[in-house]
Amino acid sequence: MDASKYYDKFSCFTRSMLSRHIIRSSSSCCCMRVVSNINTNTNNINNRPLTTTTLQHQQQGRQSQLAMENNTMDPVKTYTTRQVIERENKFGAHNYKPIPVVICKAEGVYMWDVEGKKYYDFLSAYSAVNQGHCHPKILEALNDQASLLTLTSRAFHNDVLGEYEEFVTRLLGYDKLLPMNTGVEGGETACKLARKWGYEVKNIPNNQAKIVFVENNFWGRTLSAVSSSSDPTAYSGFGPFMPGFTLIPYDDLQALEEAAMDPTVAAFMMEPIQGEAGVVVPSEGYLKGVRDVCTRHNVLWIADEVQTGLARTGRRLAVDHEEVKPDILILGKALSGGVYPVSAVLANDDVMLCIKPGEHGSTYGGNPLACKVGMAALKVMEEENLAENAEKMGKLLRSELSKLPQDVVTTVRGKGLLNAIVINEKFDAWEVCLRLKENGLLAKPTHGDIIRFAPPLCINEEQVQECVEIIRDTVMTY
Ligand SMILES: Cc1ncc(COP(=O)(O)O)c(C=O)c1O
Repeated sequence: MDASKYYDKFSCFTRSMLSRHIIRSSSSCCCMRVVSNINTNTNNINNRPLTTTTLQHQQQGRQSQLAMENNTMDPVKTYTTRQVIERENKFGAHNYKPIPVVICKAEGVYMWDVEGKKYYDFLSAYSAVNQGHCHPKILEALNDQASLLTLTSRAFHNDVLGEYEEFVTRLLGYDKLLPMNTGVEGGETACKLARKWGYEVKNIPNNQAKIVFVENNFWGRTLSAVSSSSDPTAYSGFGPFMPGFTLIPYDDLQALEEAAMDPTVAAFMMEPIQGEAGVVVPSEGYLKGVRDVCTRHNVLWIADEVQTGLARTGRRLAVDHEEVKPDILILGKALSGGVYPVSAVLANDDVMLCIKPGEHGSTYGGNPLACKVGMAALKVMEEENLAENAEKMGKLLRSELSKLPQDVVTTVRGKGLLNAIVINEKFDAWEVCLRLKENGLLAKPTHGDIIRFAPPLCINEEQVQECVEIIRDTVMTY
């Protein structure tokens, strides 16, 4: 099937989904129910007042309601989980449905809530905190640079950007780096680069360049990103969509082969493991196959390693598992160890130099604070052998999780410390996460029945075993 048919199929699908009304429920009801049950407190390391009874919660709830109505909440005082969530719900947009826990402190693999309860972090801010929370070396870099120079914009040079670019390109083996801030900006940058290369190098007729994506991809929330999405929750109600985007199935080399034959295809963009889709690991050989197809058809391969990159899957990059090199590499998240928004696009000169002065940029991209933080985060990743540890701890975690009763946990999958369990559809993955929270481990469902397990990569064997015990105890309640 040729690429345009895939695109037509996608367009029809998109149109039909657009006609449906997708309602995303507010989180407030379940927050209230769960929060009112909090009554266990260990490790009150913050010396904050503990809230131990439902009655206290109710009283504080009423006070907070009054305080908020009068806008008199004291910004310095500490508040209960319920109060904080109420305020956020009242004054914040409802574009997320968080697990009802309010974190006020974190270190390494642990987080603490406002009542002083300690948790294992099994999400790592969607793999941003690979190095562990508040890593002292990354914080030191941030603090040292913050008192010297934070931002010049790219109107002037700063004395850190070049050092950072040299450091990262040498580490990862590319000619050049283009600095941005968030992961989705990295994706946007890669798409712009690919289109420009398509016109200047591949001689695609003007405004006809196509980029091929895979079904169930996730690369963020901008209009371009949702235009390439096959998830109705991501795109419904946000059209019209970006033209020139085509969808093919993931892990399907034949589909890629057919799509890439179209001479107007400039690039193929994909995640080496689909994180948000539920940690979907492609067949062995897929990445090698992608490299081969893209090379033969003169199509740029864009690897979105925003989530899989920087030691998460047990290698520095997920593509290293098959020893292949994409033409364009997108990094984000762990590039700052969760300290600051830092993303980057890497490519060789033949691609990167297609973009000329004034054609792309960002006020904050490449600022000296980001550059110092980025270098520190990468040094920690290397010095602490995080990839090696992720590989070892990931194997241990999966082998222990696979002993869980299969009538509750039907599948365990992943690579390194990017893992997921699939919960029997008889049970509710959200409810499982609430029970995990009560037992001291924080995780979040992704796509209905799948729960991602991705702790910081500094986790040790004893901690993995303790987490497995928490998960086992939780699963055994079903
Ligand atoms: C693979 C991938 N790419 C891009 C993004 C977008 O990153 P950001 O939220 O920093 O824009 C994400 C976010 O989860 C991601 O998982």
